[in-house]
Amino acid sequence: MKKISTLLTAALALQMAACNNSSETAKVEETATLTAKAGIQEKPFGTFDGKPVTEYLLTNSSGMQVGIINYGGAITSITTPDNKGKMGDVVLGFANLEGFQQKGNPYFGGLIGRYGNRIAKASFTLDGKKYTLAANNGVNALHGGNKGYDKVYWNIEKQAGDSSLKLSYTSPDGEEGYPGTLKMEVIYTLTSANELKIDYSASTDKATPINLTSHAYFNLSAGADSTILGHELMMKAAQYTPVDSTLIPTGKIEAVAGGPMDFNTAKLIGRDIANVAGGYDHNWVLSRNGNGLELAAKLVHPASGRVMEVFTTEPGLQFYSGNFLDGTLTNTKGGAKYVWHGALCLETQHFPDSPNQPSFPTTILKPGETYHHTCVYKFSTQP
Ligand code: GLA
Repeated sequence: MKKISTLLTAALALQMAACNNSSETAKVEETATLTAKAGIQEKPFGTFDGKPVTEYLLTNSSGMQVGIINYGGAITSITTPDNKGKMGDVVLGFANLEGFQQKGNPYFGGLIGRYGNRIAKASFTLDGKKYTLAANNGVNALHGGNKGYDKVYWNIEKQAGDSSLKLSYTSPDGEEGYPGTLKMEVIYTLTSANELKIDYSASTDKATPINLTSHAYFNLSAGADSTILGHELMMKAAQYTPVDSTLIPTGKIEAVAGGPMDFNTAKLIGRDIANVAGGYDHNWVLSRNGNGLELAAKLVHPASGRVMEVFTTEPGLQFYSGNFLDGTLTNTKGGAKYVWHGALCLETQHFPDSPNQPSFPTTILKPGETYHHTCVYKFSTQP
């Protein structure tokens, strides 16, 4: 590590010497502080509900950086090296809080709950009682309702060490129609092995469905490719849950069996996408060995050599190929145009509509139990 920072310092000194204009010098200095020192920087990011929103920038010893804000507990940036050591931001996002708060923000980087993904007809019955939710996606409920956890203020505490944050939020009984006071903690950790680890835990005082996830939009080209169709994806899943025209699972679990849904052998996302109506927006049933943290997917951007592996404790993975991105979002980072298939999401989760699907693994959390879910996005490179 020492060798790397010595090299970096030397390279930066050379660049500094070559700079004859002060704004370039400032840029180089900023890069120097980002790459040379692990730690957590704080930057003001606006005000929400009368409370300050801060962007916490976690940097590890090899210079990888992750930004997180209180609003929605959202990931604002993930900056990783390509196979030549050039850093680039591999998630979509907004330049400011207004961007995140705009109508139609498709959950960029946000923490999703109480129930990530869809609940059919915006209702479910639990212990004989019918609960009605906001129908915010046609007739269905999506991602926790009108004001899901991606739109609330999360308290953030820095954890011991260089690169970990604890976010907490208590969702009151009845919020967005869900039963029970849900106390949540989400720990984001950036490890020295270039992993972003997300640990979720929660407890409730009444039985409630729960399905927390993260909605980061990845494009490993870091702005070089306008779409993710040239990325290669592997997903360790022999089955998926087919959906109806409103993206609600039919209840069947089908084999991927060599068809367009089969990603057991890595393939270009663009290869079969035209054969999937509307693009990929489905839940894959992960082929798991047990309940621990296991590899679920591997995403590769061949041109930059960037690789992202996804590990999870959850039974399902929603692969969404950015089918609703249409270039109209404003306040984007660097004014970028986020076009159709401009990024993808790999959301570790339970199956959609589980509260209405008795054959799916249960998502009901009861008083006295603790919900746990870990997801790791691990970044590396290949030649
Ligand atoms: C999820 C859903 C998609 C879409 C996006 C947000 O991934 O499965 O259908 O709603 O969120 O646009």
